[in-house]
Amino acid sequence: MTDPISIILLSDSDAMNEAVGTAVAQLDGHTLKLCDGNLASVNGSAVQFLNAHDLLIFRVSDTQDAEVVRKLRGQVGGSGMLMALCDQDIPLSEARALKQAGVDEILPFPVARDELAEQIQRLATPRSMLPTIYTRPAGQPLGQIIGICPVRGGIGASTLAVNLADQLQDRTGFFRKRTRNRVAVVDLDLQFGSIATELDLPPSAGLYKMGRDKVKPDRTFLEQCLIRHDSGLEVLTAPDEFMPLDVFSGNQMTALIDTLRQEFDFVVVDLPRSLVDWLDAIVSACDRMLLVTDSTVPSIRQAYRLIDFFAQTRLEPPVEIVVGHEKKPLFKAGHHGEAEKVLGRALRYWLPHDPRHARIALDRGQLLSQAASGCALSKAIRAMSREILHETQAHTDERTRDAA
Ligand SMILES: Nc1ncnc2c1ncn2[C@@H]1O[C@H](COP(=O)(O)OP(=O)(O)OP(=O)(O)O)[C@@H](O)[C@H]1O
Ligand SMILES: [Mg+2]
Repeated sequence: MTDPISIILLSDSDAMNEAVGTAVAQLDGHTLKLCDGNLASVNGSAVQFLNAHDLLIFRVSDTQDAEVVRKLRGQVGGSGMLMALCDQDIPLSEARALKQAGVDEILPFPVARDELAEQIQRLATPRSMLPTIYTRPAGQPLGQIIGICPVRGGIGASTLAVNLADQLQDRTGFFRKRTRNRVAVVDLDLQFGSIATELDLPPSAGLYKMGRDKVKPDRTFLEQCLIRHDSGLEVLTAPDEFMPLDVFSGNQMTALIDTLRQEFDFVVVDLPRSLVDWLDAIVSACDRMLLVTDSTVPSIRQAYRLIDFFAQTRLEPPVEIVVGHEKKPLFKAGHHGEAEKVLGRALRYWLPHDPRHARIALDRGQLLSQAASGCALSKAIRAMSREILHETQAHTDERTRDAA
């Protein structure tokens, strides 16, 4: 048993007052005081609240809340705990800002009564080390996992991964600053991953620690390891130190993908060319696998072998073919038709050979949309993302109709 704590709830929502009241009543001994308002409105009083109570629960009502928390923590230091309840699905970046500012726990609202009580009890338990993962609100579709598999080195797979991810954000507005989708890029090319360099980001030690310490990734892991790029993309870079390819287990990969799926609308995964054990977990989870090849005989043969390998894990792997370094032909040549016959699927997407702009973006550490948005390669990737977004929307509409 832990000592009883005193809790203060700062909220202007009756539903929240009632839910927290019921959860606290479920736990023996703790006391609860209600205070009408929000973090910004009570201003200086929040300091007294935190000094006088063990736990302050507040409703997230403003994007400035993280700043208020930072100031508050500056005044009270580590004393008192903070729990944030958010009644809308806030972006991971905002959740992370709140965490970094000093919030101990963030929960969605409404939250199951047992879960709320459990988390309050967890905070009441000194030095508890339980994970902070939570599931996204019911009814919200899970994100789509898109694997990018190169059939040979230097085919342009990583270039496609980051720029497709960028386009899948689906920017809107006059300055195209707002994005409709939250998108993550994961560099699982563990030994030769180039995404950090391509985006001029510092490599994170996240995947290295996941391998070394056998961590099963959860939301907290993601909060600590994802790096935000200027474009809005959240990036999990390849390890910054050399590590063997088979360092991960299939279960770890499944947990990583499942957690990412909860947080993002699209997760683009850059895969290694090697056939490692944990690839099974990715193949099973992917909604699309974009196989990047060229139309030469050795590459098509390799693409065939890969599809065959994926089919050992999954009867109908959702493989789609991307032809790199080749403009979409007006009429397909004979060898294109033969390739389609061998692979049992269309050569669906085409990425033109555009070394000049690919090089400019690479040298500047920028996305094509930043460095050369009007170039042929950028346009081809934008067209590809439009098709994927369109199909995703059609699929969601169909599911909504079926459910009605
Ligand atoms: N469509 C393209 N046309 C011309 N050059 C390209 C194209 N796409 C990428 N490149 C260039 O080719 C090189 C390799 O690209 P990238 O790293 O994307 O390929 P990859 O398949 O991921 O290679 P790796 O085997 O290193 O993982 C880079 O210098 C990149 O700028
Ligand atoms: Mg690559």
